Amino acid sequence: MEKDIKRIAVFTSGGDAPGMNAAIRAVVRTATYHDLHVYKISRGYDGMVQGDIQRLETSDVGNILHRGGTIIKTARSQEFRTKEGRQKAYDHLLAYDIDACVAIGGNGTLTGAQVFIEEFPEIPFVGLPGTIDNDLFGTDLTIGFDTAVNTAIEAVDKIRDTADSHNRTFFVEVMGRDAGHIALSTGIGSGAGNVLVPEVDLKFDDLIAVLKKAKLRNKLFSVIIVAEGSKLGNATEIAKKVDAVYDGPPTRVTVIGHLQRGGSPSAVDRILASRLGYGAVMSLLNNEFNVMIGIQNNKISKTSFADAISKKKHFDDDLLNISKILAH
Ligand code: F6P
Repeated sequence: MEKDIKRIAVFTSGGDAPGMNAAIRAVVRTATYHDLHVYKISRGYDGMVQGDIQRLETSDVGNILHRGGTIIKTARSQEFRTKEGRQKAYDHLLAYDIDACVAIGGNGTLTGAQVFIEEFPEIPFVGLPGTIDNDLFGTDLTIGFDTAVNTAIEAVDKIRDTADSHNRTFFVEVMGRDAGHIALSTGIGSGAGNVLVPEVDLKFDDLIAVLKKAKLRNKLFSVIIVAEGSKLGNATEIAKKVDAVYDGPPTRVTVIGHLQRGGSPSAVDRILASRLGYGAVMSLLNNEFNVMIGIQNNKISKTSFADAISKKKHFDDDLLNISKILAH
């Protein structure tokens, strides 16, 4: 499709991720540099359905690069899942003469975009991967992942001190929905004794064997990272099961939770978000629509929405193996 892009809208949707503000800033600054008008849609698809759309000027995105969260708010919209909701959203975009949208979010956000463009192909989208989970196919990194992992590692460093002082086994639960990328990177970056991820079908007996082995070599405390989607259960359930069958060191559980979603973005996330935000606008200007802008081998890449949402991201088994060897 050939389209002269003059007015674009940007929104963030789904779970917030550190670096989203840096991405918004990059979209606005790149667009205004090329004489485009930019509009913000507040609260993601909810704001689109309700017509919560306002002009964003270059000066509106000053002093936000370093801030966590998203200044244009986010939500998980139920109404946009309905045909009537999407029709309302389309009518509002038309009313504001929006030529194209930049959607920043995770799998749900890009799925919403894909459904919308199938129904209303005259308003194209470009997507940016904004989620701490790093679970999108077509990009090595998603915006927010690096910061979330840094936050989790910092927490585990602290837990390690108290685990060591009391000779305890800690089960530390990290986010990631049904993917184990945060858990794996946190595990390797914090030197955890084991990492339980949904991608690997670890048996409960194998976990007990790891704990027993640690005791045999006089390791008096352990930190086990549990991805929230782990097939063995959540950290609390796993600790209970361990207590029931193994008379080892006392167990404790820490769920890091939404701490991982907040805070100032890391340098990696700021730079990534800036590059991807720039890439999104350039893609629209080049009439390359309905793709997710990602980063692969340190180069900006484009992946169709269909692939980004349906293909499974590669899980780094080598990294898991390295983490096991280094923890043995
Ligand atoms: O997708 C990001 C994420 O933080 C997941 O890791 C987690 O499972 C989920 O969102 C939590 O969602 P909410 O903030 O709606 O509780």
